[in-house]
Amino acid sequence: MGSDLKKWLVVAFVVAVMVLNSPFAARAQPQVPCFFIFGDSLVDNGNNNNIVSLAKANYRPYGIDFPAGTTGRFSNGKTTVDVIAELLGFDDYIPPYATASGEGVMKGVNYASAAAGIRDETGRQLGARISFGGQVRNYKNTVSQVVNILGNETSAANYLSKCIYSLAMGSNDYLNNYFMPQQYPTSRQYTPAQYADVLIQQYSQQIRTLYNYGARKLVLIGVGQIGCSPNALAQNSRDGSTCVQRINDANQMFNTRLRSLVDDLNKNLPNAKAIYVNAYGIFQDIINSPSSFAANIIVGRRSYSAQSSTDSYPIDIRRLAQL
Ligand SMILES: *[C@@H]1O[C@H](CO)[C@@H](O)[C@H](O)[C@H]1NC(C)=O
Repeated sequence: MGSDLKKWLVVAFVVAVMVLNSPFAARAQPQVPCFFIFGDSLVDNGNNNNIVSLAKANYRPYGIDFPAGTTGRFSNGKTTVDVIAELLGFDDYIPPYATASGEGVMKGVNYASAAAGIRDETGRQLGARISFGGQVRNYKNTVSQVVNILGNETSAANYLSKCIYSLAMGSNDYLNNYFMPQQYPTSRQYTPAQYADVLIQQYSQQIRTLYNYGARKLVLIGVGQIGCSPNALAQNSRDGSTCVQRINDANQMFNTRLRSLVDDLNKNLPNAKAIYVNAYGIFQDIINSPSSFAANIIVGRRSYSAQSSTDSYPIDIRRLAQL
């Protein structure tokens, strides 16, 4: 694994540690009844295994640190959401949509799909994937299962209102769309600012659909410094190691709007409790820190206990769970 990929995994881990300062030990009872996960390769835990795609990870070396071997995860250990699930007190990982069934959906489902974006066409050069729109449609199916299990819509709505919804989309709309001008026209259609507007507008609509189907506690995870990702360095860096500033600048435009979307949702959707996680800033701390991984956990924890609104806004996941 390249050092940049390692940095990504470190980011994933530190995000989880920062936003949740609770003990690692599993609890008898999770802090929330269910945890729903939407995203891309950073959190996909197996939904691409049975579809035709180059963006698959159900082969070695992915998953080598899991007791059961390869899992379809894109890291060789726990993903961000695996760690968050553990910190929320779940005693097992949240099942992927591809295999979740029956009562199994009641603790939540992971809909994430590698290469997926907010836009449907994003990642198409990699083959099949489930875009955010597709993930939202799959979630609607889960909701009808929850209604069947609990008996009526009122009980289902009450149950779902207590659950946490983690959303981490957008990276592929840049890496596997906007910054691939040979394959996608978006960079000729939109300036980076316009593209960020278009993405957030579509994301906002999709998030409102989740809200209409019961989601209230929404965790919107910003895009990290993907101008420093292995993919961007290989294709766009002048020397293969300097981060690509124009990609990072575009990401920050997206993140600024995502943070505003949190305010918009909280103001305009009754009982919505949305928060924004600043993955970009956390990544920057790690890049700027010459220290080792463990040290980075300390950085994460210290930033967390400072309760800085730049890391998580307006509150962190631990407090969101308690609301
Ligand atoms: C929904 O189900 C709950 C739990 O079984 C029950 O108490 C409630 O009366 C039901 N509500 C309606 C509108 O049927």
